[in-house]
Amino acid sequence: MKDRIQEVRQNALSALEEARDEKAVADLAVRFLGRKGEVSALLREVSSLPVEVRPEAGQLANILKKELSSAFEAAEKRLAEAAAETAGTLDVTLPGRRLAQGRFHPLTQVCDEICRAFVRMGFSVVEGPEVEADYYNFEALNFPPEHPARDMQDTFFVSEKVVLRTHTSPLQVRTMEKTRPPVRVIAPGKVYRCDSDITHTPMFQQVEGLVVDEGIRFSDLKGVLAAFVHQIFAPDTPLRFRPSFFPFTEPSAEVDIGCVMCDGSGCRVCGHTGWLEILGSGMVHPAVFENVGYDPEKYTGFAFGLGVERIAMLKYGIDDIRRFYENDARFLGQF
Ligand code: PHE
Repeated sequence: MKDRIQEVRQNALSALEEARDEKAVADLAVRFLGRKGEVSALLREVSSLPVEVRPEAGQLANILKKELSSAFEAAEKRLAEAAAETAGTLDVTLPGRRLAQGRFHPLTQVCDEICRAFVRMGFSVVEGPEVEADYYNFEALNFPPEHPARDMQDTFFVSEKVVLRTHTSPLQVRTMEKTRPPVRVIAPGKVYRCDSDITHTPMFQQVEGLVVDEGIRFSDLKGVLAAFVHQIFAPDTPLRFRPSFFPFTEPSAEVDIGCVMCDGSGCRVCGHTGWLEILGSGMVHPAVFENVGYDPEKYTGFAFGLGVERIAMLKYGIDDIRRFYENDARFLGQF
């Protein structure tokens, strides 16, 4: 009997040594320690032995059972640890995987930069709705009913009296309705016009500016806009004010800067004029003051509106406005 016990022990231990994974160990545990296993068979045999040898044989069989239980347990643990280690093995020869990092859209960056330039000069930032009443977008801004800008060609109508705002100028009216002078605000936001080519998208962004107080003069407009241009472009960038027309400003001026591509010598971008138009501006029309209940005899002010895409294109030498909205990460990732 002792030899039989010894034999089962040898078989079990050498089989265990050969076991390469947890499944093999589990199978062996069944084979040796299971209810119908070899060790159980030994124990049953013991009970049929003559009574003189029974206690010793029983003891040996029980010792074997304990020994094998802990050997199987240890083997299982060892294999589990080894498996976990291989699973986490790092192949240092593999090329690294780059994490795609998010960042602000170039237009968001440029718009922030524009706003910061004005905030440094004491302006605060206001916002308003993109779906706008005809009253704020046109009527209160002194657009005559038959003005071409109201035409279906430029304006997206939501209903007869509601439009997608075609500019941020409604914020002039909305701000003045809510506050008394002095007013010093900028209003960044999306605007919509039915227009699409390499310099126009149906949605684009503007930053509106409005200053109203007693004694505000055209020279204040010139000074603020020159300071702005010199923060966004080179500090020696030339500016010129060209007479223009807007229903809500009088006099009105468009502002050109010396072409940033050719330094004013004339190129394709500036149409060989040496100048680039960057914004519309003017002194607030008395009719607008009347519409918001400001006394035009007491207050004067200036307003301006600039296109964020246009500034960004000039700043970075981008020739097609649609690049901003194509979501090509290779383009957007450069900023
Ligand atoms: N709202 C005008 C436009 O979109 C720009 C502008 C703003 C002009 C303020 C004068 C004053 O073209």
